[in-house]
Amino acid sequence: MTPALARALERNTALVDGTLDRLLAPTSDFPETVRKAMRYSLFAGGKRLRPTLVLAAAECCGLSPRRALKTAAALEMIHTYSLIHDDLPAMDDDDLRRGKPTNHKVFGEALAILAGDGLLTKAFEAAAENAADLRLEGRRAAELVRVVALGAGVEGMVGGQVADLAAEGQARRLGKTAAARALEAVHRRKTGALIAASLDAGAILAGASAPRRAALRAYGESVGLAFQIADDVLDVVGDKAKLGKRGSDRDNGKLTYVALYGVDGARAKARALAEMAHAQLKSFGRRAAVLHELADYVIEREK
Ligand code: IPE
Ligand code: IPE
Ligand code: MG
Ligand code: MG
Ligand code: MG
Repeated sequence: MTPALARALERNTALVDGTLDRLLAPTSDFPETVRKAMRYSLFAGGKRLRPTLVLAAAECCGLSPRRALKTAAALEMIHTYSLIHDDLPAMDDDDLRRGKPTNHKVFGEALAILAGDGLLTKAFEAAAENAADLRLEGRRAAELVRVVALGAGVEGMVGGQVADLAAEGQARRLGKTAAARALEAVHRRKTGALIAASLDAGAILAGASAPRRAALRAYGESVGLAFQIADDVLDVVGDKAKLGKRGSDRDNGKLTYVALYGVDGARAKARALAEMAHAQLKSFGRRAAVLHELADYVIEREK
């Protein structure tokens, strides 16, 4: 990671964490048990990639990142909810996340499910508040919420998680061509969709034109797929202590890029996608400097 990107990530993490802290402050109607469970996973040390993408897209389209913070926090809350549910025994059955015992190990399955539900709904509250704070015109505010919902929902992340579970143990049965097609679709939805939505949300807040939004979405789709391919690689070769998770793909019989193409083949595919992502930023010139750096970071990262 370059020093410039490290500084941007550090600055954004501080801003986003402050916003999350305020959004999850105690109130008389907020049950303390679920508030604690939500905060436990939110503040366990995630990389804050999705909120960084929201802020970088907004800035790239001329909006001060500070004005996009609640939406950035919203995308991180949705992502954290997806991790809490992903780790449940009924899904990937993992015990370690962000270097700590998984949510359900500490709070029990019922509260982990509810903490996820709470984060998902809080996210929409925060995005709606952001639109109101900026006095966005009605259609644009509705578009913001719609884009986040599509990225998170059955056409996006949830749909991808459904397909991910359905593909478990299917690599041999499908044959290589069908498996490759299914796998790319799983990864584009379970991870790519929310990442693309993060960029689009930042662009919408900034009032970006349709071509700008489309370019940022295309970048997000490439980076999102590359990011999940790198995640598959790290599951096998990563340093578990750095990653903060143990890596359960093999045990779960997951269809992954490593299972299909090997570590080197998967890395080559991720690199090609990062190159595509760079090309998709062409029209932004120097304003997209952070996004260019992020495209390389997602495939070179060690955690
Ligand atoms: C992990 O996401 C799950 C995937 C979608 C690959 P991250 O690698 O962004 O996890 P955190 O937020 O840094 O913990
Ligand atoms: C998770 O993919 C994608 C989500 C939508 C949560 P993985 O199951 O590979 O994520 P990790 O490896 O547990 O973080
Ligand atoms: Mg999973
Ligand atoms: Mg998992
Ligand atoms: Mg994984």
